Amino acid sequence: MIEQAADLATKPAHVPDELVIDFDFYDIEGSEDDVQAAYAAMQRASPDIFWTPRNGGHWVAVRGDDIVHMQRNTSAFSNRSVTLPPPPPGTPMQIPLELDPPIHAQYRRPLMQALTPGVVQHLEEDVRRVAVDQIEKLLPQGECEFIEDFAKVLPIHVFLELVDLPKADKHLLLPIAEVSVRSPDPLKRQQAQADMGAYLNKWVMERRATPGADLLTRLVTVEIDGRRISEAEAINYATLVLFGGLDTVAGMIGFFAKFLAEHPKDLRRLAENLHDEAFLKRAIEELLRRHGIANTSRVITEDFEYKGVQFKRDDIILPPNLLVGVDDRLNPDPLTVDFDREKSIHAVFGNGAHACPGATLARRELRVFLQEWLSRIPEFRVKPGTKPVLATGQVNGILELQLVWP
Ligand code: HEM
Repeated sequence: MIEQAADLATKPAHVPDELVIDFDFYDIEGSEDDVQAAYAAMQRASPDIFWTPRNGGHWVAVRGDDIVHMQRNTSAFSNRSVTLPPPPPGTPMQIPLELDPPIHAQYRRPLMQALTPGVVQHLEEDVRRVAVDQIEKLLPQGECEFIEDFAKVLPIHVFLELVDLPKADKHLLLPIAEVSVRSPDPLKRQQAQADMGAYLNKWVMERRATPGADLLTRLVTVEIDGRRISEAEAINYATLVLFGGLDTVAGMIGFFAKFLAEHPKDLRRLAENLHDEAFLKRAIEELLRRHGIANTSRVITEDFEYKGVQFKRDDIILPPNLLVGVDDRLNPDPLTVDFDREKSIHAVFGNGAHACPGATLARRELRVFLQEWLSRIPEFRVKPGTKPVLATGQVNGILELQLVWP
C-alpha cells in the first residue's frame, strides 16, 4: 500500500491496480551499499512493466529485452523528455538528446565527426599524462578521497581540452554538473543548466564569431537545413555535451575503483594482466556491465498495447540502461563480476539513434585509469572506518570513496 502524499501522481484509469508499485529512482532501498544490486533486487521482485506514482507518475520497464526494444524504437518511444520528474512546460529541449529522428541526425552529425578515432587517440595521450601526474602526486600520501582527487580529474580535463577552454574553470563547472544530474528537484536541475549556459555564453559567442578547430566550434556552428542554429540552441548543445561526458565518466571510474577496492582477488588478477590487451578489454566490458549508471526516460507517442500492457499517448516510461547488464535472463549470475564471462551483455551506453557518441572516449579513459593506477598502486582498499557514499538518480554515482594503500 502506498501512503498518500501530495507529491504522488494520481493513477490514470488505464493503469491496472496490480501494476502499481512504489518505486522512486532517487531513493531505492539498499542503494546506499550497491546501487546496481538494489536495482536488480527491484527487477526480480517486479512485473516486467509496472507504473509508479513517484516523480510525476511513470511506467518502468525492468527487463533487458524490453529496454533495448524501447531504446531502438524512437517512433513509439520518443526522447522528447528524458528527465524525471519532467521539467516545467516551456523548458528548452536538450540538444541532441531530446530530439527525435530525422532532425536528430542533423544535430548529432558534427559531434560524431568531431569524436573520430584520431581525436580520441590524441586525447588519450593527454589523458595519460594527466592521470600519471595525478597518481604520482597521490602515491606518497598512502590514501586519498578518490572521487575528488582522481575520478573527476580526467573527464573535466578531457572536456576542457576537447572544447579548448581554460583548464582552471573546472572548479566552477564540477559543482554545477553535480546538481544537474543528481538533484531530484527539477527547478534546481533547470537552474544548473542555466548556470552552465551563463558560463558557456561568452565562449559560444566567441567561437561563432571566430571559429577554431575544436569541438565547441563544431557544435555551435551547426547548420540545419542550411541555417546556422541559434545562440540559445548552441549553448544548449554545448551544455549537454559537457554534462554528458563529465559525471558519467567520473561515476564509472568511481564504481570501478570501489569494486576493485572491495574485491582483492579481482584487483590482483587485473593488476597482473594489464599488458594483456584482450583480457583488459574483456575486464572493462564486464565492469561496465555490472556498473550501469545512466537512466533516461521516454515519452509514448501513441496509444498501443505492448506485451499485454496498455500504453497511452504522452505516458512516460523509464527503461533504465543499467537493468540490461544485471538482468539474469541475459547474463547468468549477473551480480558477480567474472572476467572470464563469454559475453558481457549490457546497454551502459544506450542503443539506437541516441547511443552514446562518447563511448569510445569513455572506454579509453577507463583503460588509462586502470593501466596507470594499477601499475603504480596495485593494492588498495576502502579506508577502514569509512563507507563509500553512493547516489542514485538520472546518473547513479559515487559522491565519496576514501581509499588507502600500503
Ligand atoms: C562511462 C561514461 C558514459 C556513459 C555511461 C554514457 C552513457 C550514455 C547513454 C546511456 C546515452 C544515451 C541516452 C539515451 O538514449 O537516452 C548517452 C548519450 C550521450 N552521451 Fe554519453 N555516456 C558516457 C560518456 C560520454 C562522454 C565522454 C561524452 C562526451 C564526449 C558523452 C556525450 C553524450 C551525448 C552528447 C549523448 C547524447 C547523444 C544523442 O542524443 O544522440 N557521453 N550517453
